[in-house]
Amino acid sequence: MARLALVTGGTRGIGAGIARSLKEKGYNVVVTYGGNAKKAKEFSESTHIPSYQWDVSDFQACASGIAHIHEKYGQIDILVNNAGITRDGFLHKMTPEMWGDVIQTNLTSCFNMCRAVIETMRNQGFGRIINIASINGLKGQIGQTNYSAAKAGVIGFTKALALESANKGVTINAIAPGYIDTDMIQAIPGSVLDQIVAGIPSKRLGTANEIGQAVLFLADESSGFINGATLNINGGQYMS
Ligand SMILES: NC(=O)c1ccc[n+]([C@@H]2O[C@H](COP(=O)([O-])OP(=O)(O)OC[C@H]3O[C@@H](n4cnc5c(N)ncnc54)[C@H](OP(=O)(O)O)[C@@H]3O)[C@@H](O)[C@H]2O)c1
Repeated sequence: MARLALVTGGTRGIGAGIARSLKEKGYNVVVTYGGNAKKAKEFSESTHIPSYQWDVSDFQACASGIAHIHEKYGQIDILVNNAGITRDGFLHKMTPEMWGDVIQTNLTSCFNMCRAVIETMRNQGFGRIINIASINGLKGQIGQTNYSAAKAGVIGFTKALALESANKGVTINAIAPGYIDTDMIQAIPGSVLDQIVAGIPSKRLGTANEIGQAVLFLADESSGFINGATLNINGGQYMS
């Protein structure tokens, strides 16, 4: 039977690219979203990938959502923690809400979702967890103390959980995308985005499909010895 993959924030942007890549490769795929039901409906109708709404920053919502998926589709084999937000601003203007929302949605979500799947993955002796971090969690970014801290946290979380689960056939890796052409990036003012693209050695934005292809690689059974790694996909913009 085909393995089951769940992609959080899989109805738009990078998550949608990942979900499509997984489906094309033959996985059974389900996705989640936060609140944009119209976009989710369009996505599910065009891809025939079911979408479920819950807030990944809410521990109980994740536990209930995963319990429902387990009951309806069986064990989740691949989890992609992709849902994320930005609330940019210099620290001297950042509110506790801007800080808290970004930490909860980008970092605490990894705890919430992994906590809900890890025991069954360990028990079945197979699992692939792929956490979507960011170039800005590695190098820092003006106006993103909250986001850079959350994404750096995702990388530390990935390494620690990889150590815990390596002997159970479960791998946990991170992908650190550079600038990928999605709604999140199109929200950046045009002149600033032009400057960013000029600073990318490839002289273009990345695509969601390019991240999807990397997820396929890490999700594969043959990638079982890759664990705790962070894969940079950024057109050469930052190398670590
Ligand atoms: N785009 C980039 O250049 C870039 C670069 C590096 C890293 N990343 C990371 O890649 C991931 C995807 O980014 P993107 O650009 O594709 O974002 P996006 O286009 O804004 O899409 C975000 C997705 O996450 C969902 N989401 C947001 N908050 C949620 C919540 N609290 N609970 C459940 N789902 C939630 C959204 O659902 P709704 O549609 O319902 O709002 C949407 O499906 C994020 O983690 C981001 O930080 C992006």
